[in-house]
Amino acid sequence: SKGGYEYFMEKEIFEQPEVLIKTLNSRVDENYNINFDDAGLTKEYLEGINDIYIVACGTAYHAGLVGKYIIEKKTRIRVDVDIASEFRYRNPVINDNALVIVLSQSGETLDTLEAMKEAKRHGARVVAITNVVGSSIAREADHVIYTWAGPEIAVASTKAYTTQMVILYLMAIDFAYKFGKITKDEATENIKKLYEVEQSIQKMLEYNEKIKDVADKIKDNESMFYLGRGLDYVIAVEGALKSKEISYIHSEAFASGELKHGTIALITDGVPVVVNVTQSDLFEKSVSNIKEVTSRGAYVIAIAKEGNTVVEEVADEVFYIPNVEDDYAGFPTIVIHQLLAYYLSKLKGNDVDKPRNLAKSVTVE
Ligand code: M6R
Repeated sequence: SKGGYEYFMEKEIFEQPEVLIKTLNSRVDENYNINFDDAGLTKEYLEGINDIYIVACGTAYHAGLVGKYIIEKKTRIRVDVDIASEFRYRNPVINDNALVIVLSQSGETLDTLEAMKEAKRHGARVVAITNVVGSSIAREADHVIYTWAGPEIAVASTKAYTTQMVILYLMAIDFAYKFGKITKDEATENIKKLYEVEQSIQKMLEYNEKIKDVADKIKDNESMFYLGRGLDYVIAVEGALKSKEISYIHSEAFASGELKHGTIALITDGVPVVVNVTQSDLFEKSVSNIKEVTSRGAYVIAIAKEGNTVVEEVADEVFYIPNVEDDYAGFPTIVIHQLLAYYLSKLKGNDVDKPRNLAKSVTVE
């Protein structure tokens, strides 16, 4: 049931604090030890791998992009992220020293299932991160790690994405520790920060009304754009997918550094541009990018950290996320994107949970 909410999507957005904790608790014990041993990810095994691949479709692929960002940053192991429908037909360069992680909420996405079989034919070990117990992907994988999101009914994925991120962050911390890149104390600190994500998301849910007002201002536009750098960029890519699939507004994400390479030609008077500016080391550059688009008439909705009030001087609307460490900023940021997409869809009178032409799980090519 929708439990008092008008749409499943809204309910599922609001369930995120709770399911994030459930997912964390499924792998972290009271002494802050992470346990992935049943998934074959022992220190001994990890020392023998030379590459990590993440393969998925749609929103799960976008979680994979975040996974690459955080696993590479913490472990310095190279991670390749691939769209399943590309990977399966490309005769991918992998061997039996590769770890392949597939991500799928439903566990039934055909391209992801086939990509997984392709990886196995090359001798790689496959670990599936999925939300559905006993699904086809869960059954075919060498090992399974479940997200604890609970049933996700709305076609637009929300809580599955954030719980997939949680597992990938835990992997990054666990692998970094096993590779000797961080100490046990540092690992514990990192895990505590993941637990604190719950509160930062909870705060974003209180923005509900303000997000609705912003959605109302921009809902009649034909196009909108999302910008960011680093982690802000990969989150923007998911924000744009949420918007396009349920609001039907042409929504596209660009790396801010690409503006000058073509993108900026699309910026005209009044076009909404959502800009994520949460990463400290990229802050100045991102503020310059906001100026570049506002000087062409863009209507800028910025997402920044509390205290960075300078953003108000350059953007039309600012949503502040709590002052969390940069690596964890993606969690509260995506919640704002999810709510914006939700209200755009709802205010346009669309069927939020069942957008046109889409199915919840894509079991055909
Ligand atoms: O069930 P899966 O995670 O394998 O599904 C993958 C995509 O089909 C899915 O994420 C799709 O992109 C959603 N509609 C996004 O909201």
